[in-house]
Formats: sequence, structure tokens, C-alpha cells
Amino acid sequence: MQDVLKKKSMEKRILAPRDSRKTVGNINVPNPRMVCRNVNVYYDDKQAIRNVSIDIGSNEVLAMIGPSGCGKSTFLRCLNRMNDTIESCRVSGQIFFDSSNIYDSSVDVVPLRAQIGMVFQKPNPFPKSIYENVSWAPKIHGLVESKADADEIVETSLHKAGLWDEVKDRLDQPGTGLSGGQQQRLCIARAIAVSPEVILMDEPCSALDPIATAKIEDLIDELRKQYTIVIVTHSMQQASRVSQRTAFFHLGDLIEVGATGAVFTKPSHQLTEDYITGRYG
Ligand SMILES: Nc1ncnc2c1ncn2[C@@H]1O[C@H](COP(=O)(O)OP(=O)(O)OP(=O)(O)O)[C@@H](O)[C@H]1O
Ligand SMILES: [Mg+2]
Repeated sequence: MQDVLKKKSMEKRILAPRDSRKTVGNINVPNPRMVCRNVNVYYDDKQAIRNVSIDIGSNEVLAMIGPSGCGKSTFLRCLNRMNDTIESCRVSGQIFFDSSNIYDSSVDVVPLRAQIGMVFQKPNPFPKSIYENVSWAPKIHGLVESKADADEIVETSLHKAGLWDEVKDRLDQPGTGLSGGQQQRLCIARAIAVSPEVILMDEPCSALDPIATAKIEDLIDELRKQYTIVIVTHSMQQASRVSQRTAFFHLGDLIEVGATGAVFTKPSHQLTEDYITGRYG
């Protein structure tokens, strides 16, 4: 074993040079759920994402990493057209979901954002009861016809989010009265309640302690069986624990993408190596 490790560490890798902005690694997956091609994002005249192409596989967790300001949140928000809410923001390129381009003018963003749900960095429950936090969106989207339907969605979603046992006796109490980790799982339950296919998470654990973080990470692993998940994280340990593929961004470019294990142990680009070894902040 020692010999293998030694040989591995002595293996000469030829890294793509620091100044090369072309994506290295395989952007394709055999079973894509979303296909992004030549995506560019501008805030007024300033370009924040440059010509990014990547597939997002079914039932995979894709981690997006990179230094602050490299465009992770911007790219994540492209995936359910959340950037539409920012006036200065302009997106070009194509993002396919269910074989149609989500940027086609015929696409209605309200059902789109239910199918491709989002969980934010800071837990943001509505100032309503735990029950209403989960049942509100299914009602709006016409998924419930009766109180019994709503009860079932609330219970199933809270179960899937790993929160049911902690809240089943206080569903009528405010969601904002839960702990931070519980609030984040409530937000995940809220996203799940409308039967999404993809869940986007922007640093979902950055406001949580290690125990609450571990719960969310276990949950992500469980949710992957049913959903596709894209997670932005500043924690390389977290990316290693929860994701199967990792995408490394730098100054708006997708520098490298590949199997998480390979990206962290044998990166192919000098910038990825610099970042994961802490030489670039
Ligand atoms: N609403 C906005 N208006 C103008 N510029 C923006 C806006 N949001 C982001 N930017 C700019 O776009 C670039 C990418 O920002 P983004 O928030 O996507 O980075 P990030 O990788 O998510 O960073 P962090 O790790 O700090 O969250 C930055 O230069 C940022 O200043
Ligand atoms: Mg961000």
C-alpha cells in the first residue's frame, strides 16, 4: 500500500497552465438532467460567467467550488432563472431541462422554479407556521385539493427532510422559532413539497454548526436517490463528502470539472491545484 501511495505521489502529472481558461475534464455525463451550453452572464457591462458548458447528471450531487466572487451563485441562479429577478443581469446561451431551453420565451418561470427548487445560504422560512411553510407552495401550484392532501404533503416532505420527528407535535408554531439547522431542513422540506426534480443549494450549511451540518449532509446523500442536487460550497471537505462530481470556477470561467475524488486528489489544471492546496484564496 505504501509503495502504491509513494508511486502515486511521484506520478508526474501535466497540469493545464494557470493562464489557460479552457475547461479541462469531461463536461458530459451519460444521463444528463440538465445541459448547459455556452452560458454567459453579465451584470450591466461586467461579465460574471464566461462561456460555461456543463452537464448535470440525474441523481448526482454536483458541487461547485471556487474563490469568492468567481461566479458560483451567479451560475447556480441561472439554472432556475432566479437571475431574472436581478434587473442588471443578462444571461445568454442555452440551458436544457426536459429537452427544452429554460430561457425560451415560452417558458413560465413559476412552475420552472418549483421543478428546479432552491435552498439559500441563510435559512429563510416564511413568518408562518411550520405547517404553512410546507403547505403553501403545493396549494399555490394546485397540488392539493383537500386538507387531507395538504396534511399528507406536509408529513411526507418533513419526513424526507429529516425533520418530522422533531416538529410533528408543534406544526402550528412559527417556522422562525426553530433552530438554524431545523429552519434549513424546513426550507428543504418546503422545496421538496412541490415535487421538484432538481434542488439548487447555495452554501446551505454556512450558517450551521457541525452537528446541523452533518444532518444536512446526510440528508443530501439521501435526497440524491430521488433528486438531482447542485450545491455551492466553500468547504472542500463538504464537497468531498456529499458530491460525485465537482466543478471548479475561477473569475467567471469553469476551469475544471470531473469526478470529485479525482478533482481533489489529481486535479488537471494548475489553478485547481493551487485552490485545493490553499495557495489561492
Ligand atoms: N446583483 C449583482 N449586481 C452586480 N454584480 C454582481 C451581482 N451579484 C454578483 N455580482 C458580481 O458577479 C461576480 C460573481 O459573483 P457571485 O456572487 O456569483 O460569486 P460567488 O462565487 O458566489 O462568490 P461567494 O463565494 O462570495 O458567494 C462578482 O464579481 C460579483 O461582484
Ligand atoms: Mg455565492
